[in-house]
Amino acid sequence: MAVGVFDSGLGGLTVLDAVAAHMPDLPLIYFGDNAHAPYGVRDANDIYELTTAAVANMFERGCNLVILACNTASASALRRMQESWVPRDKRVLGVMVPLIEALTERQWGDNSPPREVAVKHTALFATPATVASRAFQRELAFRAIGVDVEAQACGGVVDAIEDGDMILADALVRSHVDALKRKMPNPQAAILGCTHYPLMEQVFQEALGAEVTVFSQAKLVAASLEDYLNRHPHMRGSGDESLFLTTGDPARVSQRATQFLRRPITFVAA
Ligand code: DGL
Repeated sequence: MAVGVFDSGLGGLTVLDAVAAHMPDLPLIYFGDNAHAPYGVRDANDIYELTTAAVANMFERGCNLVILACNTASASALRRMQESWVPRDKRVLGVMVPLIEALTERQWGDNSPPREVAVKHTALFATPATVASRAFQRELAFRAIGVDVEAQACGGVVDAIEDGDMILADALVRSHVDALKRKMPNPQAAILGCTHYPLMEQVFQEALGAEVTVFSQAKLVAASLEDYLNRHPHMRGSGDESLFLTTGDPARVSQRATQFLRRPITFVAA
């Protein structure tokens, strides 16, 4: 009864970890498309092709539900997948919805007119593709008024994390926060709109300052998944074993994953 968790690389492990903490008995099939990461510098069609290939693999392994634990795929490919690709008996959900729900303090299905919300000045840190898609701002505008979103495309951060170069990742995060602050000196909240970024959450928080609320996407997604599975228990799928799949080098990816999650993780070839 496995649920699939997909990311271009290691970032989705932050979501997997939060899901495992919420639902320790839920088998999870993780798919990291490490051979093709980062997605954030690819065009929408490329992201769609890669994401559908990975999700098809997870469907074949018995998943009925796959979480795109990747903001870039959620922003660039999810709608197209849901409209014309996902089979009737399967579901693919993204990671942006729970975040927008938390920020706007309302449920996704609430179709009432947009309302004022508490957070007025929000910094969005995401990959170049997510920022270019403007998906986050579009969804927010349907639900909230008067929110000023300043987006910062954080080039290079995902590559540095995937390469395990945390010194470079640290320096890049600080310089992206500086760049954001030149455009928006006093953000009230910050959204880490890429699942790799929670691995650098402390650096973001330090560079932003303690007064800025950093939204934790992983926990929000885990809570929302638990709620979804309670309402749709048949979406748990038929697989009953957890599995870590990668298109990259399994030994190298296992080593990085073990370092990030601080517990032994063994990836196998997808
Ligand atoms: N971790 C992914 C995200 O949330 C993708 C990063 C990338 O591959 O560029 O956007």
